[in-house]
Order: sequence, then C-alpha cells, then structure tokens
Amino acid sequence: MPVSDPVPLVSSLSDIYSPAGVAKSALRWDRLASQFSKAFNQSQPDFIARAPGRVNLIGEHIDYVGFSVFPAAIEKDILMAVKVHRSDDDGHSAAEGELEVVIKNTTPRFEAHTFTSGYLETDQVGLLDQGDQRWANYFKVAFKGLHSHLPAEVLESRSRPTRIEVLVDGTIPPESSLSSSAAMTTCSSIVILQAFGARERIDRTEMAEVAIESERLVGVNSGGMDQSASIFSIPHHALYISFYPKLSVQPTRLPTSQPEHTFVIANTLVVSDKKVTGPVNYNLRVVETRMAARALAKALGIESNRGEETKTLRLVLETFFREKPAALEEEGGAEVLDTLRGYGEEAARLRFMELASDRLLEKGGMTREQVEVATGFRGKDFDQEFLSSFPIRAEKFKLHARSVHVFSEALRVIQFKSLCSEESKGPSTYASLGELMSSSQASLRELYECSCPELDELIQLASDSGAIGSRLTGAGWGGCTVHLVRKSDVPEFLASLRRGYYEKRFPGLREEEINDALFDTEPAGGACVYQV
Ligand code: GLA
Repeated sequence: MPVSDPVPLVSSLSDIYSPAGVAKSALRWDRLASQFSKAFNQSQPDFIARAPGRVNLIGEHIDYVGFSVFPAAIEKDILMAVKVHRSDDDGHSAAEGELEVVIKNTTPRFEAHTFTSGYLETDQVGLLDQGDQRWANYFKVAFKGLHSHLPAEVLESRSRPTRIEVLVDGTIPPESSLSSSAAMTTCSSIVILQAFGARERIDRTEMAEVAIESERLVGVNSGGMDQSASIFSIPHHALYISFYPKLSVQPTRLPTSQPEHTFVIANTLVVSDKKVTGPVNYNLRVVETRMAARALAKALGIESNRGEETKTLRLVLETFFREKPAALEEEGGAEVLDTLRGYGEEAARLRFMELASDRLLEKGGMTREQVEVATGFRGKDFDQEFLSSFPIRAEKFKLHARSVHVFSEALRVIQFKSLCSEESKGPSTYASLGELMSSSQASLRELYECSCPELDELIQLASDSGAIGSRLTGAGWGGCTVHLVRKSDVPEFLASLRRGYYEKRFPGLREEEINDALFDTEPAGGACVYQV
C-alpha cells in the first residue's frame, strides 16, 4: 500500500466511522465544536484532527525487535479541535518571534497548559515531570520531534501561526493498552502539520517515524506498532506492519465466514502505565531482548557479534542466514522443514531461531556477571550497551524465555496472516486463528511474564464463556484483553463477562463505564484531518 501520501483530508464522518459509529459519534463531534467555542472565546475551530487507538490482534512485544505485527485501528480515538491564529490576521500574536500553544482537554482532570516556543529552535519547550498538566507532554514531544522536519520556508513564512488553540477530546481510556498515548502523539503531529500548512509536505511514513521517535522522549523505549496502526489503518482491515528492512504496511481483510466472527475488547481496569513501570517492566524487556540477541549471536558463532548486525534478535536472524544460507536445510531438522513446507522460508527461519534459542541460551534468571560472560559485553561496555538508553532495575535477566517468546510470536504472526489469505474461510480457519491467539497468550504469560492475575482471570472467564481465542493486547501488566467470538454469541458473551468480572470486582460501575470497558469492535480507519 502506498505510504508516501500525506495524512488524508476528509469531509464526512462516514469516511471515518462505520454506520453505527457515525450515529454514535455525530453528537460528540457537534459537542466538541461548541465546547471549543466555550473554551476559546466564542470562536470556531478551523479543523479537527483525529487519530484512533488500536487493538493488537497478534504479535506482542516484537515490534521493537524488528518483527512484523498485526493490529487494527479501533473507533475509539483522540480528536483535537484546532484554531490557528496568524500574525497577519488578528491581535493574538505572542511575543515577537514566538509561537504560543494553548492546549485544553474536555476531561477536567487534564488541566489546561500553555507553552511558547521559538520558530527556529524548541529548546525552551520543557517537559513537565509532575502535575495535572503532564498530559500536554505528548503534544510537546510531537512538536519538538516534528520541528526539525518542517521546511525552513514553513517556519519562516509570514503566515506562520502565532497561536494555536487546541481542545482535546478522547474516548480511548488512558493507560489501558489501547494506545491512547500514540494516538495523542500522532494527533498532535497532525495538528502541527496542518497548522503550519505543511500537511502535504511530509508523508505518512515520515510522520510515523517522527511520532515513534518523539514518543520515546516520554520515557518509554517503545516500538512502532501503535503510531503506525493509528496512521495507516483503513476501515474493515487489520494492518500487517513490517519494520524490516523498512516500515511498510499491508492492510489485510479478516476472512469472511459463515457463521460470522468478531473481536471483543475487555478492559481489566487495572491501570498499566508504561512510563511509571518502565524500569521493571517494558523497558527492561526491551533490554533483555537486546541481551538475548548478543548472547545468541555469540552462541551461534557469528563473528561480527559486537556490531550493529546483531543488536536485535531480528538482526541476528538476518545475519546468521546471510552467513549460512543453507542452514535451514542442513541444520534445520524435521520441525523446521515442516514449517518450511507449511508456511515458507521466513517462518522456517523463525522456527530455526526459536529452537536455537531454546538449545543455546541459559534457562532461568541470569545475573549481570552471567550475562557479561554470555554476551561478551563486560564492565563499561555492558553499561554502554544495555544500560545507557533507559533506566532499568533488575537482579536477574531472563534471556532464554524472552528470546523463545519473540521468535515463536513472530512465527504466529506469519501463520495468522497466512490463515487470513487462505481459501477456506469456514469455522476451522477461525478455530486456528483462535488457537494462535491463545498460544500467544500462553507465551506472554509464561515466557514474557507480562500478564497479571486480572488478565488471566478475564481470559479464563472468556474461554469458559465461548471465546474461540483470547489474549492480552498491547504491553500487558494490566490493560485490555481481546477475544475472538462468533457474532451471534456476542450478547451472551458480553453478559457473561459483565456478570463474572465487572459486577464481581467493580460492583459500583455505572452502565456507561461498563460499556466503555467491554465492547465489540470492527477494524476502523486511521488518522485524518476534517476541515470544518
Ligand atoms: C506497547 C508499545 C508497542 C508494543 C506493545 C507490545 O503498546 O507502545 O510499541 O511494543 O506495547 O507489543
């Protein structure tokens, strides 16, 4: 799919939502315009930018390693209503040579924030490390990140903005693993591009790359799945996203079948904030996979073990098979050859690496000293290689388990995609898709250790209530689960989760809160700008 076009301009809600979604959202969009006028001196917004959240169907914790993932955008999204003041159009100009941004939220707990910046550099734009205005950091990092990509003539233009007024309205529950933060960064980037008249000058790939980089400034060493899903999704399709050798996307329809199937999202309501728990959860896992890559390369006898070529598990795989192109046939064994016949070469290479990790990496937790021996990175080199980008805290590192998860999960993504393109699309295809989702969950729970008791409980309940496959979605340690369910079973399935989980654990929840936590979803469209 072409990814070198700009973020699209749309003129109707039906370009964005399903018919049911249009009916639900029309009121919210109208209300946003009137809330904007209340918040900003009776004025009307010039445009509304939109970026959706996503649900990942399969392929967890492998994007930052360089393997492909398979999410879909959801209808829940972030909207930003925006008015742009320019030096030549009214009395709103900030201090000479400065841009002023005022960002407000329709949810009162997110306090309004104003910041100013020079046009030629953004050094004065500092991030907030505490308080109720901290959410504005997402806008700031998007601005700082995008700034160096804006052409000079845009920044120096006489009609550049002097003040940008933004009202944010989000329906993606924060810290619920449906990617509200990436939607915030993405939506902010779109606002900046549109406000500077540069939307058509930066294509979506560049925008996605900048949004991915920018979000790391918030303190999480995340991969690129969330921003890419938000930017490139199209309605009715899941998105197969590849990161190697470069970012590319392939919208893929889920099989049509009789009976029909759909996905249900159920939020554990356990908050999972990657920014806070990064050092012991998310960022630690990223580092463990990097350690595993160096250790596996060494164990496989790759000579260039210390360079870029073995920095991630993906690169270890590429380097190994470049050096030994006949390894699959010569050293693979029956299981690898089976995978080769069933799913092709890429899948067989993954299976090969999964088995090699299982055989060659030390099982159980390893101390720093043991990791130094296994990777060959010692002392200062170890600090530089593994500890210098994001702070982490751990006594032991689990290289074997993380590596086996990564390769087996990457293989499941290929199998999932291959099932979506198969001819036979009856219940057995869906049974196989469901099995892949459930084995993904088992691997996330046992090997990647990013599940939690509430996720396990909800997933068990879903399976007892007729789900064909169930897993956590996103980073884990709380947040949401996703379930594959027969469409005709949805009402009974929702009722069963409501009784068995929400009414038991959260008896005081209002109807609206339950509907926000538990809902069925169809793949939705991606980010766009709506000209008012
Ligand atoms: C978060 C990150 C993504 C991805 C998932 C886990 O959502 O932002 O990049 O790593 O976790 O698959």
